[in-house]
Amino acid sequence: MSMRMRRGLLIIGLVLAPFIIGLLFTYELIKIPFPTDMAQQPSVGYQESPRQLPPVGSVPIQGLSVIPEEFPINPVPADEVSLQRGEILYTIHCEVCHGAEGYGDGPLSGYFDRTPQNLVGPQITAEFDGSVYLTIVQGFGQMMPLAENLTPRERWDVVNYLRTLPIR
Ligand code: HEC
Repeated sequence: MSMRMRRGLLIIGLVLAPFIIGLLFTYELIKIPFPTDMAQQPSVGYQESPRQLPPVGSVPIQGLSVIPEEFPINPVPADEVSLQRGEILYTIHCEVCHGAEGYGDGPLSGYFDRTPQNLVGPQITAEFDGSVYLTIVQGFGQMMPLAENLTPRERWDVVNYLRTLPIR
């Protein structure tokens, strides 16, 4: 082999070598375990135990951050404004499942294993307002939480309105 040819091959080799080594990584023939998974950090998700209390002085913006041991007391008087708002909000957020009169016979009710509760029957009418409020916040069984859809004030408006529906 001539001197020239050898030098040519050497240059080609030098150019190709990094490329080939790069390919080894691309096709994962050589693997370096980079820590790319956020779950590997030493942190605790909000759904994991131990349950952390929020820092002192922090204000939850979507309602309850920690479920209280007692039912919250309804702070919203059932005046005309609250009932009007409650009626509109009920139509938007509850009626599809619980029905216009609250009987649990809305158009979506057939899609649940356990039908949506009759909200004007003996069970729910006997519950504290705060219990219905918490159902809106946390959901219940197959009913999803609606905390993101309704502000705290709006949830109480719905509860107030529910209480005016004829009992059955
Ligand atoms: C997508 C359907 C759906 C919507 C919307 C919905 N619910 Fe429900 N709800 C259900 C179902 C289903 C159940 C029964 C769940 C079970 O028993 O597993 C239920 C149960 C309940 C209960 C009974 C909880 C208990 O303690 O027994 C209350 C109270 C309630 N819903 C209130 C509401 C209110 C108020 C709204 C509107 C802000 C609402 N729901 C919106 C489906 C819905």
